[in-house]
Amino acid sequence: MSLVFRDMRDEDVDQTIALWRACDLTRTWNDPVKDIAFARASPSSTVLIAEVNGRIAASVMAGHDGHRGTLYYVAVDPAQQRKGYGRAAVKAAEDWLLSQGVWKINLMIRPENAAVKAFYESLGYEINPVFCMARKIV
Ligand SMILES: CC(C)(COP(=O)(O)OP(=O)(O)OC[C@H]1O[C@@H](n2cnc3c(N)ncnc32)[C@H](O)[C@@H]1OP(=O)(O)O)[C@@H](O)C(=O)NCCC(=O)NCCS
Repeated sequence: MSLVFRDMRDEDVDQTIALWRACDLTRTWNDPVKDIAFARASPSSTVLIAEVNGRIAASVMAGHDGHRGTLYYVAVDPAQQRKGYGRAAVKAAEDWLLSQGVWKINLMIRPENAAVKAFYESLGYEINPVFCMARKIV
């Protein structure tokens, strides 16, 4: 079944966060409500969701910084995985980024989630030999 992705709406926030929790994508140091609000407030980012039988089954956050595109919160309801929905979520994000003029995507995988590399590799993503460094500036 092909999924239709759309921009998330206010009424989707709770279900989307529940999906992220079910997929173990939330962390105590990240506030998903703030992440969603920030992404939705900017023209250079979006949160796309898709429903199956009236329930949010897949999501992806996409954005760009004027140079590269990035994907976050790629999630498929655990009960709905291995049906091609993850592939569809990434494709929806890629299409959105292409529509913004973006031609290259970077994404990060937590070390404890290394198994997901096979998913991205099946979609044509490759490991880049770079260090990812981060710092909170507030
Ligand atoms: C990663 C995730 C989004 C994949 O979603 P999905 O709907 O199951 O993926 P798809 O059915 O579109 O899979 C496409 C292909 O990716 C590969 N793949 C998917 N999940 C895989 C896994 N767990 N192990 C190995 N390969 C996998 C397969 O090649 C698959 O094709 P196949 O089913 O024909 O073999 C989903 O497992 C998920 O939500 N995981 C928890 C959240 C997460 O880790 N997100 C990524 C954060 S970086």
